[in-house]
Amino acid sequence: MNALTDPFHRRLTYLRLSVTDLCNYRCVYCLPDGYQGKSKPDELTLPEIETLVHTFGAHGTRKIRLTGGEPTLRRDLAEIIAICKNAPGIEQVALTTNAFKLAQLAPSYRAAGLDKLNISIDSFDPEVFYQITGKRECQRIVAALDGLLADGFYNIKINTLLLKRYIERTLADALDFVRQRPVTLRFIELMQTRDNFTLFSEQHLSAAKLEADLQAQGWQLLPRQAHAGPAREYRHRDFAGGIGFIAPYSQDFCKSCNRLRVSAQGKMHLCLFGGIAYDLRPWLQRGDGEGLAQHLYELMADKPEHHFLHDKKVGLIRDLSMIGG
Ligand code: 5AD
Ligand code: SF4
Repeated sequence: MNALTDPFHRRLTYLRLSVTDLCNYRCVYCLPDGYQGKSKPDELTLPEIETLVHTFGAHGTRKIRLTGGEPTLRRDLAEIIAICKNAPGIEQVALTTNAFKLAQLAPSYRAAGLDKLNISIDSFDPEVFYQITGKRECQRIVAALDGLLADGFYNIKINTLLLKRYIERTLADALDFVRQRPVTLRFIELMQTRDNFTLFSEQHLSAAKLEADLQAQGWQLLPRQAHAGPAREYRHRDFAGGIGFIAPYSQDFCKSCNRLRVSAQGKMHLCLFGGIAYDLRPWLQRGDGEGLAQHLYELMADKPEHHFLHDKKVGLIRDLSMIGG
């Protein structure tokens, strides 16, 4: 079977597919004023998604992550999960969610074949959680997560944004959280987008110092797993869970890039911070998987070696609700 590969000999095994731009949160770093776009954005339909994931799966994609916006706002998300799970070559289907409806929806997602879940929890302090997201959901989300663990679903990771002003408390709470729970919590460095410049300059915190502190406390870096994202993950013998870091500003972040991204409208981004969105929809609308595959192979020549965030070139991305991080 052929596999999509870029000019730097990186195999693109990981597809991040956004299924909606809609979001019900107002995260300060993403949508501080809430979602402002069309109330009925022209999202990919189920047949279009089927053509997309069958084509990617037949050409090297092994893992699909569904993102948004907030993907659980799509009522047909369980069907989308099943379509991904049944596509050729796909070994893992993962979901990134803010988890506000998780307790209610998780059983149908699991029945559809969901393998992995990433839940965003930026603080364990309900008041700080509210300040960051605009929602008073913190305790309910932690309860939903504990419910999944009690049911024996352990493939859960937590995403926590690194924000300078809250980090001391958040780190202490995070360590408490993973002491008894077999989940990995990953801190994500704030990324600059077109809309969050002031927040970025005030609140960006590099992961490096935190990593050094954890190492000094006996945390050990794990080897990276196949099809994994760019996180650096640590373990400690006194803790059931792990702590990870996603540091897009670190030197090697792009080196092992295995990702392609497709927006909820079927536009492919070769890099999160690339300048071009390539419209795949004409092929998806026609159900033309072969034509799409040929087009994808041609586009691979354009995949950049790395992002240009260090030069403050943030590309097309206004905020990450456009493409799901
Ligand atoms: N920088 C880093 N991470 C971000 N996310 C959203 N916006 C940004 C940003 N500017 C993260 C959220 C969530 C995931 C979907 O993307 O915290 O965990
Ligand atoms: Fe919504 Fe995610 Fe953006 Fe928060 S980070 S506003 S949950 S899309």
